[in-house]
Amino acid sequence: MGKPTPQQMTPYFIMALLFAGLAALTALDAALTGFGLLPWFNGLRWLRVHFITLGLVTEFAFGLLPVLAAVYARQPMPKTRLDIWLALNSGLIILIVGVPLMNSVLMITGGTLVFIAALLLFKQLSAFGLVRSVADKPAGAGRKFYLSGLSFLLLGIFIGAGLWVGWPQLLGMRVPIEVHIHANIWGFMALVFVGLLVDLYPGFAGRQPAWSRSITPIFWMMTTGALFLVLGPWLSNQILTVVGIVLHLGATGWLLLGVYIPLRGDELTKTPGLWHLFLAYLWIIAPVLVAPLIILQVPGFPGVGVEQSAPQALIYGWVLQFSFAVIPYLFSRVFLPNQPAKLGGSWLTLSLVNLGAVLLWASILITNYQPWLFGTAYALWALSMLPVIAQIYRSVRAGVAFVESAPAFLDDAPAASPNAS
Ligand code: HEM
Repeated sequence: MGKPTPQQMTPYFIMALLFAGLAALTALDAALTGFGLLPWFNGLRWLRVHFITLGLVTEFAFGLLPVLAAVYARQPMPKTRLDIWLALNSGLIILIVGVPLMNSVLMITGGTLVFIAALLLFKQLSAFGLVRSVADKPAGAGRKFYLSGLSFLLLGIFIGAGLWVGWPQLLGMRVPIEVHIHANIWGFMALVFVGLLVDLYPGFAGRQPAWSRSITPIFWMMTTGALFLVLGPWLSNQILTVVGIVLHLGATGWLLLGVYIPLRGDELTKTPGLWHLFLAYLWIIAPVLVAPLIILQVPGFPGVGVEQSAPQALIYGWVLQFSFAVIPYLFSRVFLPNQPAKLGGSWLTLSLVNLGAVLLWASILITNYQPWLFGTAYALWALSMLPVIAQIYRSVRAGVAFVESAPAFLDDAPAASPNAS
């Protein structure tokens, strides 16, 4: 079985580090605009959400998933697929220009390139069969979650790229933006995150999760739940959405219990990394708890405010917080293989990112103080990213320094003859 080497992941991990920095900058910008110290600019909202989702997390996933699939399929390490890297990053750069300009040609071009990258990754992952002998051990079962997640991403990209040129309406979608968000959040992100938890748990917990045979039913509950959560806003059918939420959260709760139970009383439960993982899932539940108040249109409840801001609380409270634990852990496993790796984050990042989420929700519910609560929430989120970016940066620098200190391949080249021109 091939030992994971940084080569395959490095081009993506370097881009992930770049997008982490940009995400911190746009969060700071959102704080200053919230306080009225800086003017808004078109696309700020799109940039700050997508620097995290399409930037940091997607780059990280594209770099890591083929390596994890190869490790568990006991196959040699995959070569770096620069075609996928080029398609993903040229698509991203074109979108970063096109969306704020609301230029549909650039959005379609950028979206198509990202779509091609996701399709090529799907094909690369599907090629890794699963070795029978590891079937009873959940680790290695992550691949099916990645493939299902990528299928939802392909749908999410299609809707996002065509959102402003009417593509979704051609397919009879009633609330396209919600279909886009649900496909990417409940589909792509949620399924990939669970796949990572399943594959990485033995590494950071040093044991297997409880109920190893629960992984397949969890997979089908979550995939079906995500599908219903896509079809609900697609057909404007609340029942499908509610059934989807019940299935999806049921599967999530089942998995988190399976992760927690073997760790009861263990030192790991007293570490910020594990608390990041668990508290992150609290913020996926928050919008669900208030959803009935919106559906029933309870008078005085700021339903519109929730619909407008809840996606951001989800991205920072859940997606970013989950990444705080997992991304530094893997950067250190990849770039510092001779050092014990532990889940990322600290008690400071834990307090800052969760206080930020509390204040963002407060800004929705206590509208009199909205600008200050909103601005402070983003200031705390921007601050919470800095120690994690520093953790990632240190791993990359140490890893790169290690490669740089390796004997240069030119050392053993015959000395150039003096009269060589
Ligand atoms: C090529 C890929 C993508 C494209 C072209 C795209 C495009 C868009 C567009 C045009 C919007 C609407 C912006 C607005 O109306 O202000 C949007 C919103 C959103 N997208 Fe994407 N998107 C992509 C990928 C993703 C991914 C991978 C995720 C998450 C995993 C995601 C999550 C979201 C969320 C949460 C919103 C709502 C933002 C808000 O309300 O603040 N998108 N996207």
